[in-house]
Amino acid sequence: MTSAQTLRVRVAKRQASGQDIALFTLVSADGAQLPAFEAGAHLDVHLPGGLVRQYSLCGDPTDKTHYRIGVLRDANSRGGSIAVHEHLKEGVELEISAPRNHFPLITGPGAGKAYLFGGGIGVTPMIAMAHTLHKTGMDFEFHYSSRSPAHMAFTAELDAAPYASRIHKHFDENAPTPAQQRADAAAILGAAPPGAHVYVCGPKGYMDWVMDTARAQGFPKERIHYEFFQVDVQKGGDSFTVVAQASGKEVVVEAEETIANALERIGIRVQVSCEQGICGTCLTNVIEGTPDHRDEYQTDEEKAANEQITICCSRSLTPRLVLDL
Ligand code: FES
Repeated sequence: MTSAQTLRVRVAKRQASGQDIALFTLVSADGAQLPAFEAGAHLDVHLPGGLVRQYSLCGDPTDKTHYRIGVLRDANSRGGSIAVHEHLKEGVELEISAPRNHFPLITGPGAGKAYLFGGGIGVTPMIAMAHTLHKTGMDFEFHYSSRSPAHMAFTAELDAAPYASRIHKHFDENAPTPAQQRADAAAILGAAPPGAHVYVCGPKGYMDWVMDTARAQGFPKERIHYEFFQVDVQKGGDSFTVVAQASGKEVVVEAEETIANALERIGIRVQVSCEQGICGTCLTNVIEGTPDHRDEYQTDEEKAANEQITICCSRSLTPRLVLDL
């Protein structure tokens, strides 16, 4: 570990898998074992130009010899996925965070059957979850939706997995069999036994569809688990004043800038990562004022408490917002 926050790793292997997807195997640069992680965890990957992006770990959580991430090259991204594809060649060293988990799997007695839904590259945390569910002997179904067979990644590995019989592949187009056309979430979740949990990750529309279906099937919110990796954050709004109380400074956040940008403008450095309200890196305590929460990170209850704000994307409903900075 190079600092309290980061680990130095090396790209030991890079493999193409599915259209525009690359799988990266990362090993410790000094050959040591890596910190353990839990299924659902992600890493912050530090990229050239100061970019930091989060990628879910998609390997076996019990294997400390390496981490594995899968990254879709997205031409419409804000630069992170393209930087990964261009920069991370085999042998390159880079900094990553230790694994963090905001998407934990519920295991143990009484946890109920798990329904894993992965859409596109959102399948990555589901692979780690499937490893854990299989090893702990829990009942689960794994539904992997992809645009077409050519877009699907991890196919050889999933076909050979000891839990292969639990995997259901679904395709929007060119499905090899009629049964593999689009997932019927209502039928799948309608057949779920009492106490089941749903886990979903993927594009926003896919996630909304799975979560809306689960709610319609009577799943309470504590049994619907999700992790966003890409959202459309509402941008801009009226200007307001932010007071950084500990620093003794204040700044007007203009209509088209973020609180984080405005603070940087007056010399207050803040830590941001995803810049779209999904990772929680920029969470800041609110001392006074009412935030206009625009993130997907905090729960509805946390947002209603107005004790913290994600300053990378959220704004203020009051003309003045006092922060603990
Ligand atoms: Fe990720 Fe703000 S930087 S939530």
